[in-house]
Amino acid sequence: MSDRLYVGIDLGTYQSTISSSAGAIHTIETIVGRPKDPVARNFLGRDVLFGNDALKNKLACNLYRPMAAGVAQDDEANLAAAKAFVSHLLETVDPEEYDEVFGVICSPSHVSFTDKSNLVATLRGQVNAIMVVTEPFATAYGIEEIAGSIVVDIGAGTTDIARIHGTFPSDEDQITIQEAGDWLDLELMELVRKKYTGAQVTKDMVRRWKEASSYVGMDAKEVMVELSVEGKKQVVDIGDLIVEACESIIPLVANAVKKIVATADPEYQPILRNNIILSGGGSLIEGIAARMAEEISDIGDVNVWCVEDAINSVANGALKLAGEMPDDMYTAIN
Ligand SMILES: Nc1ncnc2c1ncn2[C@@H]1O[C@H](COP(=O)(O)OP(=O)(O)OP(=O)(O)O)[C@@H](O)[C@H]1O
Ligand SMILES: [Mg+2]
Repeated sequence: MSDRLYVGIDLGTYQSTISSSAGAIHTIETIVGRPKDPVARNFLGRDVLFGNDALKNKLACNLYRPMAAGVAQDDEANLAAAKAFVSHLLETVDPEEYDEVFGVICSPSHVSFTDKSNLVATLRGQVNAIMVVTEPFATAYGIEEIAGSIVVDIGAGTTDIARIHGTFPSDEDQITIQEAGDWLDLELMELVRKKYTGAQVTKDMVRRWKEASSYVGMDAKEVMVELSVEGKKQVVDIGDLIVEACESIIPLVANAVKKIVATADPEYQPILRNNIILSGGGSLIEGIAARMAEEISDIGDVNVWCVEDAINSVANGALKLAGEMPDDMYTAIN
């Protein structure tokens, strides 16, 4: 038997995860840094930096987020960054120790069909065969919920909502909305700036505050943060703003879920209503499952729950698919 490595890859707008049949799993922020000039190159001692390493050295680098919404996928610098990033991600699971590598890849839903051929180009020479699937489907497969469920993947760039009924979902089974983690960060930033005139806040600052303290569906909590207002330090409570920002995404996601239920085969609708699964980083908002259930309760009895491993569920599901699908489901890209 030839020695084959299977990998599941979740290429995310914000972060990416690779999971291998040898038991390795790694998550890296989807960001690539290139030294700005020869001085930076000498000081850093390398031509390309990834994830945290790139962020730590951001002042000496040009930064690329090659999977971010709005990045033109034919832009050469970003395409090269995407290639370098995927190679790096693969290297973390030691593919050279195997005769061949078969990969199941999930890419952000805003990466269109032409971009998918870029994705294949990106992987050529690094994996022998690939299969591209959607994030919600990979999640459902991984947790063995493909019989009848709705998976709501609240990522950074998009929220992808899909009906799963025992087979690969088609385009009609999925709705994608642009409101997700990045959108939430901008809402929160706006609220902070409005309340504290002159406050100097960046998107990264508000994202960290959100990740540390997000919640919905409960009384306002105290969340003290430090801000600079016109250069002067201030410690303020933004607990009310965090809940306001997080609440604002609930009706938008809820409406999309209702649409996915309403357009399903009527005999399946009760099953789908009873198995709504939240995943992706946005599912880590405290209280979101109960709050979502309340928001859609007008369509009948519903059951909403969160996956256990929000960050790894896509890559792990992709890995499970990789090992269980017959070879003829793959596209050889040697
Ligand atoms: N505790 C938390 N509360 C709220 N949001 C969180 C929390 N932890 C992470 N997030 C957010 O989840 C998002 C990242 O989730 P995820 O890794 O699923 O996205 P992604 O796969 O990179 O994006 P996409 O699927 O859109 O391509 C970020 O916006 C991040 O700020
Ligand atoms: Mg994702």
